[in-house]
Amino acid sequence: MIEYFRRHLGVKIFFSYLVIILLGVLVLVIASQFILPSAFNRHMAGMGTMMNGGMMGGSVSMPQLYGDFRASFNEALLYATLTAMIAALALSFLFTKSVVAPVVGMSHATQRIADGHYDERLPVNGKDELAQLAMRFNQMAEKLDQVEAMRRRLIGDVSHELRTPLTAIKGSMEGLMDGVLPANDETFGQIHAEADRLNRLVDDLQELSRVESRAYQLIIRPVEISSIVRTVTKRLAPQAESKRISLDFELAPDLPPVLADEDRAIQVLTNLTGNALQYTPEGGKVSITAKQLNDEVQVSVRDTGIGIPAEHIPRIFDRFYRVEKSRSRQAGGGSGIGLTIARSLVEAQGGRIWVKPAGEGEGSEFIFTLPIAK
Ligand SMILES: Nc1ncnc2c1ncn2[C@@H]1O[C@H](COP(=O)(O)OP(=O)(O)OP(=O)(O)O)[C@@H](O)[C@H]1O
Ligand SMILES: [Mg+2]
Repeated sequence: MIEYFRRHLGVKIFFSYLVIILLGVLVLVIASQFILPSAFNRHMAGMGTMMNGGMMGGSVSMPQLYGDFRASFNEALLYATLTAMIAALALSFLFTKSVVAPVVGMSHATQRIADGHYDERLPVNGKDELAQLAMRFNQMAEKLDQVEAMRRRLIGDVSHELRTPLTAIKGSMEGLMDGVLPANDETFGQIHAEADRLNRLVDDLQELSRVESRAYQLIIRPVEISSIVRTVTKRLAPQAESKRISLDFELAPDLPPVLADEDRAIQVLTNLTGNALQYTPEGGKVSITAKQLNDEVQVSVRDTGIGIPAEHIPRIFDRFYRVEKSRSRQAGGGSGIGLTIARSLVEAQGGRIWVKPAGEGEGSEFIFTLPIAK
């Protein structure tokens, strides 16, 4: 009961009205029981002196008696009204303080957030609707704070990523100008490779921003997983061949069609298989398998490559995250955006993506799911 009272502002308002009414009644009762008789006695006593003084032997007339009664009653009523008003004032002051103060606080906090102070938080007192509002407000502020921190980090990361190839290009150009570096194919090739890297990075960033802001259209319809797997293996066969890696797939019989955007699903699988080829040394093996599990199809990409140490797994899908920056660079690796894009795309299609923990050197297995078409 008390809990219910504390949780609802409406109940509080109702009870405060009720208290005021009860107070009024109480004051009226006190007035009629105590003030009225004494006031009546006073009036009667006054009348008694009058009678003793002048109007000897006369009797009290009815209108007079009535008038006296009314005067005493009005007196009592006046006291009652005054007391009830003071009580109502005190009560409404208390109540207004408990309602208006949080609202004013919220209004100030909103202004501060609008001014860019995302660390603003409200105290949460009690459990009623206003307290819930304060709690939601704090959640919103927290979210804004996170988005702001992410934006700042993103700008930092992007500048850092852009700086590396730019510094390399600038260094090579300076070396060329000073005659320290020979003007041969190798030097030009290096500069070209760095420019290429820059180009790829900008393309990836553009794609990431499109994918994360969902600025693309998904055409979700029933798709055969086998056709996706075949397309990807065919597309990546030359890359596998050039590294002498065997790339094969194994599909469970009677795989049902999945609900997905075919191009996007191909993009995800290309991404994972591309990584597997990239981080697997020559002579290794990459295999794609697909099987049904409950109401989804699980597609797995397994390799015999360098693997991912367990401590990196929780962050592997983060933007720009690479297990070892120099390692992926040397391996011709990219910027650490591929998996972020893959996760966004899988989740947009109603699936999940994760990596199976395996030790370094034991290869890795990336798995994603897509819902089956019913
Ligand atoms: N199959 C794999 N085996 C080992 N490490 C992997 C594998 N796949 C991903 N990684 C690690 O995860 C990191 C992030 O992968 P992600 O695909 O996001 O970026 P990337 O391949 O470095 O660059 P790009 O944005 O061009 O794809 C890689 O840098 C690599 O360290
Ligand atoms: Mg990649």
